[in-house]
Amino acid sequence: MAVKDVDLAVDLNGLVLPGAVLVASGCFGSGRELGDLFEARGLGGVVSRTVTASPRKGAPSPRAAETPSGLLSMVGLQNPGADAFVADDLLHMASLGLPVIVSVAGGSVEEYVRVTAMLDGAPGVVAVEVYLAGPDEELDGQAFTARPERCAEVTGAVARRAGVPVFAKLPAMPVGLVDVAGACARAGVHGVTLIDGVPGMAVDADELASSLGAVEGFLSGPAVRPLALRAVHEVASALPELPIMGVGGVWTGRDAAELLLAGAWAVQVGTAMLTDPAAAGRVASGLADYLRGKGLVSPSDIRGRMRAPAVRPDAPSRFESGGSA
Ligand SMILES: Cc1cc2nc3c(=O)[nH]c(=O)nc-3n(C[C@H](O)[C@H](O)[C@H](O)COP(=O)(O)O)c2cc1C
Repeated sequence: MAVKDVDLAVDLNGLVLPGAVLVASGCFGSGRELGDLFEARGLGGVVSRTVTASPRKGAPSPRAAETPSGLLSMVGLQNPGADAFVADDLLHMASLGLPVIVSVAGGSVEEYVRVTAMLDGAPGVVAVEVYLAGPDEELDGQAFTARPERCAEVTGAVARRAGVPVFAKLPAMPVGLVDVAGACARAGVHGVTLIDGVPGMAVDADELASSLGAVEGFLSGPAVRPLALRAVHEVASALPELPIMGVGGVWTGRDAAELLLAGAWAVQVGTAMLTDPAAAGRVASGLADYLRGKGLVSPSDIRGRMRAPAVRPDAPSRFESGGSA
């Protein structure tokens, strides 16, 4: 009997993607910059940088700083506006032959809906991802995520307007994450993307200056993977029917497998793309190797299958051996 080989395609409650590994928002441009270095084969799709209705200049430079525990960045939603994005970047992204998820933002509910409407008829768009970390004009510039009910209001309005499934991109909130995800789901989102970069900052003590022009930024890379795992696991445990895109510090196929085991339905690769333009393809083939090695054929075979660690009967407990808790 022929052995079935791994098929990385995933079905996110009706949103069928050709692969479980996608490129995360903001870490890819339109793919044009990467030229021949970008390998679309085996991937499930690409998420665009976040676009707004009108062009935005973005944050002052420097916009990125390496820290010992990850990349700190603040691009500030620089983008050419949705019309120019659709006419240029999106056409190029669609030509890659991969499903495209467009990330949208606005300063008000009305602006989120306007930018979503500007995507009508755009080629290759299979879903919309709602960026919620930006400032809410009605709340003196506090992030939308500061008020869960605003997250639901925004995502619900986008879901009603978009002709495609909508994902809410949420931060790794230590408290209340399930409430926010549940509120967004009740408002009509198809799924959630977890996690966004984690607010942080860096200081250059030699220069007595902040490392970023905007002072505060977002931490990403391997340091945030444990935070992504926790967030994915928490939401997946409480809302098992809600598709989750896991994102945060994915560098290898095993990292992707970890997020799937914790409950993600698909994964996105962000910062790794900035160090290696072939990273997402490498993660996809690494995930296929991992599944093959376990005798499995589909990413859904491991989704949420994480168990508690095996207890070794002969192992002394930390308390018995005098270790600290
Ligand atoms: C330089 C840079 C730009 C980003 N821009 C966006 C963006 O425009 N919209 C968005 O939703 N996330 C953006 N992100 C966040 C990533 O999509 C991702 O959620 C986060 O970095 C965690 O994943 P990672 O550790 O794989 O990078 C950006 C991240 C980086 C490093």
